[in-house]
Amino acid sequence: MQELSIAGGTAVVTGAASGIGRALAIGLAQRGADLVLADIDEQGLAETNQLVSSAGARALACRLDAGSIDDNEALAETAFAWVEKPVTLVFANAGIHGLTGALDPDLGVWQRAIDVNLLGPLFASKAFVGRMAEQETPSQFVITASQASVIAAPGMSPYVATKHAVWGLADCLRIELKQANSRVGVSIIAPGRTESGITQGQLERVRAAQGDEAATAYAAQLVTADKVAEVILREVVKRPFWIVPADLDTREMVRPRFEEFAAAVPVGLIEA
Ligand SMILES: NC(=O)c1ccc[n+]([C@@H]2O[C@H](COP(=O)([O-])OP(=O)(O)OC[C@H]3O[C@@H](n4cnc5c(N)ncnc54)[C@H](O)[C@@H]3O)[C@@H](O)[C@H]2O)c1
Repeated sequence: MQELSIAGGTAVVTGAASGIGRALAIGLAQRGADLVLADIDEQGLAETNQLVSSAGARALACRLDAGSIDDNEALAETAFAWVEKPVTLVFANAGIHGLTGALDPDLGVWQRAIDVNLLGPLFASKAFVGRMAEQETPSQFVITASQASVIAAPGMSPYVATKHAVWGLADCLRIELKQANSRVGVSIIAPGRTESGITQGQLERVRAAQGDEAATAYAAQLVTADKVAEVILREVVKRPFWIVPADLDTREMVRPRFEEFAAAVPVGLIEA
């Protein structure tokens, strides 16, 4: 597949005010992309805009509630009216944690996670992919999922469930675009634990519940958002489906889940 040129295009980044989104925006600016930055946090967004502008990028900052279809449509309309270079990359990256159990779930936490983590990428794809497909240039629609897309953990059922769900969304989108011979491809990013607003919140919860030593141990497991963005930007131009930027090899955590499924298939096989 033809590699994408970051310098030759415009990149849209949602969740650009902080963490992985901000690191992506800065990395894209350093590589010569024009940028459309979007986030619900307008102050953080202005700071990212300042950072990418200092790196020499032409940039536009737009307020977005990722869980609103109207906001996503307005963002796409504004972005395509503003661009001078084709939109070659759209990162549906905005996300929130979802901390409540599967046992005795807080339904409000579930609803917010569904709105931002699942409907956010769906609304972004609805708003952007058709417009991207009309361009002559190949482009990539990229969803930031998580290692929680393939691994379950206690106490964060809405996060795990919504991140599993966007894998399904991304895969269906990829298949349908391929069937349509579209120039738009799909990637899904599964970062490991990364320094960001989400993990800063988690760090403070660990500190409050278990003390400084546990917080220090938790912090030691995090990689910087810059390193994660570096891997994403190195790989995304090659347009793979999965991009897995993490310092921990989680293959042995993933394998038993798929083996459990594979083992169940012959057991349930119905004789013709
Ligand atoms: N940090 C990690 O360890 C980690 C690991 C795997 C996946 N991720 C994913 O990476 C993505 C980026 O998160 P991050 O870790 O950089 O956290 P972060 O909190 O630093 O950044 C998330 C950004 O999304 C924005 N956002 C939240 N709700 C929004 C909404 N409704 N509309 C628009 N913007 C909204 C926030 O304001 C923030 O700027 C998320 O999808 C997250 O699930 C993070």
